Amino acid sequence: MKKEKLIEEIKELKKEKKAVILAHNYQPDEVQEIADFVGDSLELSRKAAEVEADIIVFCGVHFMAETAKILAPQKKVLMPDLRARCPMADMLTGKDLRWMKEQNPGRKVVAYVNTTAEVKAETDVCCTSANAVKVVNSLPDEEIIFVPDRNLADYVAKKTGKKLIVWDGCCPIHEKIRVKDIEEQKRLHPEAEVWAHPECRPEILEKVDRILSTGQMIKEAPKSLAREIIVATEVGILHRLRKENPDKKFYPAQEKAVCRNMKKTNLEKIYQALLKEKPEVMVEREVAERAKEAINQMVRYV
Ligand code: 13P
Ligand code: SF4
Repeated sequence: MKKEKLIEEIKELKKEKKAVILAHNYQPDEVQEIADFVGDSLELSRKAAEVEADIIVFCGVHFMAETAKILAPQKKVLMPDLRARCPMADMLTGKDLRWMKEQNPGRKVVAYVNTTAEVKAETDVCCTSANAVKVVNSLPDEEIIFVPDRNLADYVAKKTGKKLIVWDGCCPIHEKIRVKDIEEQKRLHPEAEVWAHPECRPEILEKVDRILSTGQMIKEAPKSLAREIIVATEVGILHRLRKENPDKKFYPAQEKAVCRNMKKTNLEKIYQALLKEKPEVMVEREVAERAKEAINQMVRYV
């Protein structure tokens, strides 16, 4: 089917089935364009819980759709391609976390939202990159288990002064961005500010002007006095940054920072998902119930 026709059909099916399309900031441009709402992990979780719809077509990676299903169990959550998973989330299993808890008795667990529902079920509070510092500061404990991203953990530990017991996980996409890439972009654009996502390596975070979640980058860009910004995160974010700030210039710190899983969604798969109402994301009831409180707490912190 031609692109225009696909878009038309998707809009029709959405209306007919009372469906909404939620898309992450890293989704392909054409998916962002057709979405009802585009945002970061925290914004999408909130949206999933509050939006009035019978069906959510979640365009992102699996843990995000799973989180949406846990927050909105009465809605049908579809994922255009169930194979779109987050490699970082798959670096830690429920069994691994149970082992960490056994090794560190009495320690609270903060888990990044980039985890499976099984891991969230073993967690006290979840967080996203937008509120990780606030969530950790909200706990009275000085020593906390923080999983699975070692880079986010390092950043949060420095910001809060707390001792974090970490798992050796990371985002392979953000780890592709190296100091030499930032230096090269700075050489090409000496006036530009550098903004980075906290999943970047610590040596990158030490060098940048601002450390922000993808949603925070979108909010801060129009307010910033900088006219040029080098962006150290997945390149999908550039679509919205450029579209919403035509007076500014945005450069990728590393143009190979592409999350292949985020790019598995396309218009054809969205159309098929809406038409057939599958693949559907399901979470076992017992796991969902245990994970829900940790996610609910995360959603409370801005
Ligand atoms: P955000 O919460 O900033 O959207 O990040 C999610 C993610 O997967 C980053 O790689
Ligand atoms: Fe996971 Fe990294 Fe892709 Fe984000 S960019 S979804 S952390 S692999």
